[in-house]
Amino acid sequence: MSNRTSTLKSESKIWELDRRHQLHPYQHFASFDKAGSMVMKSGQGCYLTDEYGKRYFDAVGGMWCTNIGLGREEMADAIAQQVRDLAYANPFVDMTNEPASRLAAKLAELAPGDLNHVMFTCSGSTANDLAYRVIRMYQHARGTPKKHHILSRIDSYHGATFLAASIGCKPDDRISEFDFITDWVHHLSSPNRYRAPDLNTTDEDFCDYLIEEMEQKILDVGPENIAAFYAEPILGVGGVIVPPADYNRRTWDLCQRYDILYVADEVVTAFGRLGCWFVSKDRFDVQPDIITCAKGLSSGYLPLGAAIISDRIYEVMANDDDRFFAAGLTYSGHPVSCAAALKNIEIMERENLFDNVNEVGPYFEKQLRTLLDLPIVGDIRGEKFMMCVVNVQNKASREFFPAEVNIGKRISDHAESLGLLVRPIGDLNIMSPPLTMSREDVDFIVTTLRTAIEMTMIGLRSEGLWRD
Ligand SMILES: Cc1ncc(COP(=O)(O)O)c(C=O)c1O
Repeated sequence: MSNRTSTLKSESKIWELDRRHQLHPYQHFASFDKAGSMVMKSGQGCYLTDEYGKRYFDAVGGMWCTNIGLGREEMADAIAQQVRDLAYANPFVDMTNEPASRLAAKLAELAPGDLNHVMFTCSGSTANDLAYRVIRMYQHARGTPKKHHILSRIDSYHGATFLAASIGCKPDDRISEFDFITDWVHHLSSPNRYRAPDLNTTDEDFCDYLIEEMEQKILDVGPENIAAFYAEPILGVGGVIVPPADYNRRTWDLCQRYDILYVADEVVTAFGRLGCWFVSKDRFDVQPDIITCAKGLSSGYLPLGAAIISDRIYEVMANDDDRFFAAGLTYSGHPVSCAAALKNIEIMERENLFDNVNEVGPYFEKQLRTLLDLPIVGDIRGEKFMMCVVNVQNKASREFFPAEVNIGKRISDHAESLGLLVRPIGDLNIMSPPLTMSREDVDFIVTTLRTAIEMTMIGLRSEGLWRD
């Protein structure tokens, strides 16, 4: 918010209305009261324009979601046409609509293996939450009702509903004012090698340690009690953490051995971020029992999420004539959201957007790594169009800045003043740009980020907060 003066703010009615009346996700009350929000007015491709006409390259891709880019006429047309044809129809019990049915079939075609049944939701959180209903019904139906515990990891994020927030475990989100399910959700160590306590271990040792820990946890809780393991293939909000090689496959093997369902939360990774529809099978050789997705499914044009469920689970749930699935949302399979998703997928296919990700992605990784010569850049993490810069006070010891320095935010504020949006989360600056990003865009991001980090270092030095 560094470049917005108080004069401009007081001229902006929207800014004031918002400050007075909207409670934002993750709003920090004290600073929001002073600075309010940045009011965005329009968006085209990778760019956003604020209410004063200033343009920003949105390297965050909205919130990991504007995969095909903003402002597409044919998306507007498809959405408008569907509103005219059928804006809503009850999705419960035995009524459907054409876009929802077509989209379910399309997702069954794109998802790996026998993931052939789709439950639509309004978001990633509700996809993960309702997936647990499926899991419980399956465990009951097959005669293992004791299986209700969930395994997941520290640093994971699975959403904001009570259950999804309990399954996820970003330490900073575990604020004392909120409650979480703690007796039947168990968190394993984060697969974050950079924060692994012993700097001398190899990746293989670290992976062995994580797998042994998971197996021990399964034995401690009892496999007969564990229903499912929830895992993001690459942990997103927790810090773009790519687990050690073979980790995803080995955790899946353990789930097979101990009869635990594997839920791949692909809310961020699906729909092109790594240059494929779903990364579970294509990148990590894992065949999940359920994939949850959202975000890139509709590229943020309208809210939509889905849990894609295996034949095996569906057939077991459906094996009793008296059973019914007593859960659902008013907007499950919303025709307008599904029409938007179908058009979104058509655009991804027609424009071969994944080829662009596979071509520009490695360049993005390589160019971002040039920032490692800066004294406060400790690590560059991620793959292709899902990347993050890790900022540290001391590179050798991997010591982080004290939380109150708010290092990620300082850098993103400078970047913002230079026309670039990167997402600050604690020590990190995260990027998940639209899949249309070009090599020239990459050059702009990397040059601008370098300047923003240098400006931040000057500020830190002058405030006596850091010396190289
Ligand atoms: C991996 C993952 N799962 C679930 C969610 C929750 O999705 P939503 O915000 O659409 O509820 C998110 C959101 O960022 C996410 O990153």
